[in-house]
Amino acid sequence: MKISNQELNLLKDKAQQALTKAYAPYSKFRVGAAILTDEGNIFTGCNIENSSYGLTICAERAAVASAIANEGGEIMKIRAVVIVTEPEKPCAPCGACRQVLSEFGLEAIVFFQGQDQEIKQLTVAELLPEAFELTIRHLHKP
Ligand code: THU
Repeated sequence: MKISNQELNLLKDKAQQALTKAYAPYSKFRVGAAILTDEGNIFTGCNIENSSYGLTICAERAAVASAIANEGGEIMKIRAVVIVTEPEKPCAPCGACRQVLSEFGLEAIVFFQGQDQEIKQLTVAELLPEAFELTIRHLHKP
């Protein structure tokens, strides 16, 4: 489902605010994400780095965690995601975030700066074709 320019501007503002809270002493690359849910709420996240680098949490997954903590995992569905960075650089969501976003909104629209400096908008399904889904077949092998 499309979102209005007003909603998009609000999401950008909220993502920018979240970015200022980032903990990124190692990469110095601050990321903010804002999620619009089907309920019409906005939740944000920022990247949280760790001295054990692999434990770093991306802004998008932090925003998903906040949305679920507020709306509940069985209810929360994502309509749109906006990702912003400081410095302003191309930043498509990483593979792990694509998989996590897919669980809560395959048709959600993701806005991010692409390699060509333009703001791209792609659905999660477009960003992650053939997303992994656990089906009953995985649980009961023939
Ligand atoms: N990062 C995000 O927060 N989201 C992305 O989609 C890509 C990368 C963060 C992780 C790390 O703190 C920093 O950017 C550099 O990789």
